[in-house]
Amino acid sequence: MHFHSFVLFALAAPWAAEAQGFVASWDDAYTKANAALAKLSTTEKIAIVTGIGWGKGACAGNTGTASSINFRSLCLQDGPLGVRSATGITAFPPGIQAASTWDRSLMRERGRGIGGQTKALGVNVILGPVAGPLGEFAQGGRNWEGFGNDPYLCGVGMEQTVAGIQEAGAQACGKHYIGNEQEKNRETMNSVIDERTMHELYLWPFAEAVKANLASIMCSYNKLGGKWSCENPHALNELLKQELGFRGFVVTDWNAQHSTADSANAGLDMTMPGSDFDGKNIYWGTALQSAVSSKQVSSARLDDMVKRILASWYLTKQDQNYPATTVVKGGTGGRNVQGNNGTIAKNVARDGIVLLKNAGNLLPLKKPKSIAIVGSGAVANPKGINSCTDNGCNTGTLTMGWGSGTATLPHLRHYNLNRYSQRRCLRGSIRRRRIVFITSDSGESYITVETNAGDRSDLNAWHNGNDLVKAVAAINKNTIVVVNSVGPIILESFADLANVKAIVWAGLPGQEAGNALVEVLYGDVSPSGKLPYTIAKSASNYGTSIQATTDGFSEGLFIDYRYLDKNKIDPRYEFGFGLSYTTFNYSNLDITGTPTSGAESGDTIPGGSASLFDVVATVTATITNSGSVDRRRSRPTLHRVTIFSAFNTYKTIEGFPEAESEGGGESDSYV
Ligand SMILES: *[C@@H]1O[C@H](CO)[C@@H](O)[C@H](O)[C@H]1NC(C)=O
Ligand SMILES: *[C@@H]1O[C@H](CO)[C@@H](O)[C@H](O)[C@H]1NC(C)=O
Repeated sequence: MHFHSFVLFALAAPWAAEAQGFVASWDDAYTKANAALAKLSTTEKIAIVTGIGWGKGACAGNTGTASSINFRSLCLQDGPLGVRSATGITAFPPGIQAASTWDRSLMRERGRGIGGQTKALGVNVILGPVAGPLGEFAQGGRNWEGFGNDPYLCGVGMEQTVAGIQEAGAQACGKHYIGNEQEKNRETMNSVIDERTMHELYLWPFAEAVKANLASIMCSYNKLGGKWSCENPHALNELLKQELGFRGFVVTDWNAQHSTADSANAGLDMTMPGSDFDGKNIYWGTALQSAVSSKQVSSARLDDMVKRILASWYLTKQDQNYPATTVVKGGTGGRNVQGNNGTIAKNVARDGIVLLKNAGNLLPLKKPKSIAIVGSGAVANPKGINSCTDNGCNTGTLTMGWGSGTATLPHLRHYNLNRYSQRRCLRGSIRRRRIVFITSDSGESYITVETNAGDRSDLNAWHNGNDLVKAVAAINKNTIVVVNSVGPIILESFADLANVKAIVWAGLPGQEAGNALVEVLYGDVSPSGKLPYTIAKSASNYGTSIQATTDGFSEGLFIDYRYLDKNKIDPRYEFGFGLSYTTFNYSNLDITGTPTSGAESGDTIPGGSASLFDVVATVTATITNSGSVDRRRSRPTLHRVTIFSAFNTYKTIEGFPEAESEGGGESDSYV
């Protein structure tokens, strides 16, 4: 391999959170694990590495216990945006929204919030964050759970989230490792990925997670190069444990195991849920004990599995007064563990909003006479915000996709309705604005929503969204489009219309959807999100599409913007695009350091060869807000606004204060 990480110190990303992490010591954790190992019986060792069976414990997965060392049943629970199934927890925006903030500190705070709630409920291992799928296919059903298809950005998302979760005392689980890029045929797909592509795209975000002392990794359902991911010695023993220096444990995706000895010898350390979903097919448990007795699996390998699980437990100090597991699966933890995490959720939702178009500076809204809110995406599901199992419907405000990566909404700050009469909007006014909400959804393949079997069938807005926008734009010259989407949609049918003055990419906002959007629309803050993927002009411009057969192949390095660049295809909005209400000016640009080349070198540290993480260049600049709007206007309390709406009817809102115009001259240095 000949790649060096080029560390560009992102100009818009404060480093502050980097300094305050906990100092994890794997060596100390292994010292304790070795001492504990000596006390364990073989039966206890087997219990630690084997799930107790589907549906048998309080959590999505539970291990057995080892009373000789006070090791209770470890609780493993979904998921990547909050503790699944529990109530009274925060439903944060998904990973893709955190990515579009491009803000390390916010990613870290979100991770801490998820981890803190995980611990408060006595869950040991939270099944996230997600770097697989990375996003080879724009239609990939679970892309929204992760941090976008750029490996560097995704790697930052993984590193910060893992660090945040584990600082708060929970064990993170990086998933799904590896090559699990689509939902169609995910349990039979064979992903074929060449070594350069593996290293530069798919493995890199996991390397960053390992560098942040990731406690566990979930091997995926698919095959890689012809071998199941959970019994793949190249993926597990060679790439992950040897090359990346991963010292935590590898756990199966649920029911992703296919063998007893082969999986053990390939580097698998824990099986979940311990049986198949019918309670049959138990590959470990007594079967593993027999395989060790008959020397198909060495006792040293079994000890290594146990040590890895115990070391992660000690590393996160879960041996010391970890809270008891509060009922998770039943959904009534009974306690509210949110604290002020709703504010973090709102900040991620808000700062992930990307302003794509703003003709004539229509936004921020300046004392509009009336606003018509159009589109079913503007209002909460009338049957209830959690009425669809695992969010398996696209009815009303879209806050997240569907599947196991969801959480129960404690509330929804939606674009609320009720108070405003239809007549007001129809009366007309020169300052009349129409805001149209459109959506596009996807999720996990065990649920099909409106014919989308996990992966998206196409890249169009759902529910005739394109026609809805065109119909509104035909009668109103100040049309604002708000998009809530799991990933790119094709905007060509309306993006250039003169009456479509603004396009606001609100992404997947989680529970604080309305609060976040209102602060941007009214200019309480300037939008600062940037696209974490390319919005192309047609689906075919991505050059990749969901594979129809199980003989998967990788497109190589050229996914998303790499493909468009290589083929000289103009996107509608490029990766990293995002407008602001203000303008910036930079000066004192300085670049120090000497780019290097050649093979990596140095000791293997968590994450890989130490030299991979050498800082090879540092860029500094002074950035000045040269416009007339504050980048972050912090008024103590903003007018408590909700936007009012209704299902397929037009409602209005009026009387908001003029957005104050201040700012300019604000200057910050970033290193
Ligand atoms: C988030 O929730 C956790 C668990 O209750 C709590 O420890 C933490 O302080 C909360 N964070 C904030 C900002 O309130
Ligand atoms: C940009 O910043 C420089 C240095 O602070 C200043 O001299 C210049 O006038 C600024 N330009 C604009 C357009 O604000």
